[in-house]
Amino acid sequence: MEVIILPSSKEIGALAADSIEALVRNKPNAVIGLATGSSPLPIYDELARRHEAGLSFEGVSGFALDEYVGLPVGHYESYREVIRREFTNRVDVSGENVHGPDGASDDVAAACQSYEDAIAAAGGIDLQILGVGTNGHIGFNEPGSSLASRTRIKTLAEQTRQDNARFFDNIDQVPHHVVTQGLGTIMDARHLVLVAFGAGKADAVRDFVEGPLSASCPASILQFHPRATVIIDEAAASKLAGAASYRHAYENKPAWQGV
Ligand code: F6R
Repeated sequence: MEVIILPSSKEIGALAADSIEALVRNKPNAVIGLATGSSPLPIYDELARRHEAGLSFEGVSGFALDEYVGLPVGHYESYREVIRREFTNRVDVSGENVHGPDGASDDVAAACQSYEDAIAAAGGIDLQILGVGTNGHIGFNEPGSSLASRTRIKTLAEQTRQDNARFFDNIDQVPHHVVTQGLGTIMDARHLVLVAFGAGKADAVRDFVEGPLSASCPASILQFHPRATVIIDEAAASKLAGAASYRHAYENKPAWQGV
């Protein structure tokens, strides 16, 4: 796991965007895994800027990490809508190439399987953008999730519902269930780029970067991925025992390795 500590969310967004830009220039039909929430917003802002400057996403496909169950199709806070608003409508990704797990299906299990099938049919995810929950979740794989899990329905932890209540009028509107790529699904992506900023993420970052690999901290599975990049600000890095050595490694990183 590479840990990169940067001064601000803007710089975090720019570095993650460098990685995505390099991928898309090298592979115009790249498949990108799209997270929602606050963490990826600086990345999407930067990619929108780069698109205005000429970067094309025409051949790119996107797969959302997760979706609420129970929100009507087209709900402002459904993740399909959030991704459309925050990213795909601001670039030239074709709408038909943007996919999300179906949280409104009558047959959730079948919808989850067909989502797995769609990811496989697209050739797998080249780069998966991730945030991390204050309880260490990635996607909505809450603590205790199987490390081998695939796309399925999950019950949100109360902590997560409280954290996400800021997007709704009140906590009662936050659904209790979601469909989410599993940890096994996420681990199949060829490159994981997790971004986090703010002191509220410091415990989760310490636990998944330096704690034991454990289902109690789902993000710790990144320790087992051959190519995981963790880009965080000073506040999120404030509880890392090894911060100085991560800084040293990044400052001395051979230029040819790129992002
Ligand atoms: C969102 C997702 C979640 C969030 C996490 C952090 O698609 O899968 O894992 O990344 O809850 O949320 P923010 O970025 O809002 O702090």
